[in-house]
Amino acid sequence: MTLAIRRATVNDAQTLSRLARRTFDETFGHLYPPEDLQAFFDDAYAVEKQRVILAHPDYAVWFLEDGGEAVGHAAAGPCGLPHPEVAPGDGELKRLYLLKEYQRGGWGGRMFDTAMAWLQRKGPCPLWIGVWSENVGAQRFYARKGFEIVGEYRFPVGRVRDREFIMRRKGGAL
Ligand SMILES: CC(C)(COP(=O)(O)OP(=O)(O)OC[C@H]1O[C@@H](n2cnc3c(N)ncnc32)[C@H](O)[C@@H]1OP(=O)(O)O)[C@@H](O)C(=O)NCCC(=O)NCCS
Repeated sequence: MTLAIRRATVNDAQTLSRLARRTFDETFGHLYPPEDLQAFFDDAYAVEKQRVILAHPDYAVWFLEDGGEAVGHAAAGPCGLPHPEVAPGDGELKRLYLLKEYQRGGWGGRMFDTAMAWLQRKGPCPLWIGVWSENVGAQRFYARKGFEIVGEYRFPVGRVRDREFIMRRKGGAL
């Protein structure tokens, strides 16, 4: 394994779309009827949508690569979570997924730190994350990084509505 983190570019839209589907499917695919999963993938992970995100100056995406092949990804941008205390300038970790065989080796932590540093490139600000209510492993991971649950909302996957926790770390707590 030769692992490295690299900022993705607009030329990576196809790779990002493919990897996002694969990692989500691996983590959560068993939870949904296939047609709902497919509808979610076709919307959220459409290649054109990844291109828009990758080209947008307010968003950033990173790959974890093994010998040049993408095996994990993180995405960050302005906070879009439905919580009354979200303010302009707040940041959000939008995705953090590694393929299973690359988990628990510290790389998720490094990807997380990379995204957090980028979100605070203009100075400390409140940071937010949406996480599935039953994903206790990820919640523990975020809690160790200073995040706490401050709300919840419903996340649509096709016709399914998941219970999602909203976690926040207040600005300044670097
Ligand atoms: C969450 C994730 C990015 C963390 O990356 P990682 O490289 O595995 O994490 P690290 O090795 O840096 O840290 C390990 C910590 O992750 C947490 N963790 C994440 N998933 C876990 C799981 N399935 N079981 C147990 N702990 C888990 C634990 O806090 C663990 O610490 P511990 O070993 O002391 O209990 C990675 O596990 C992953 O991709 N999971 C699947 C996708 C996912 O759930 N993403 C979050 C969506 S909000």
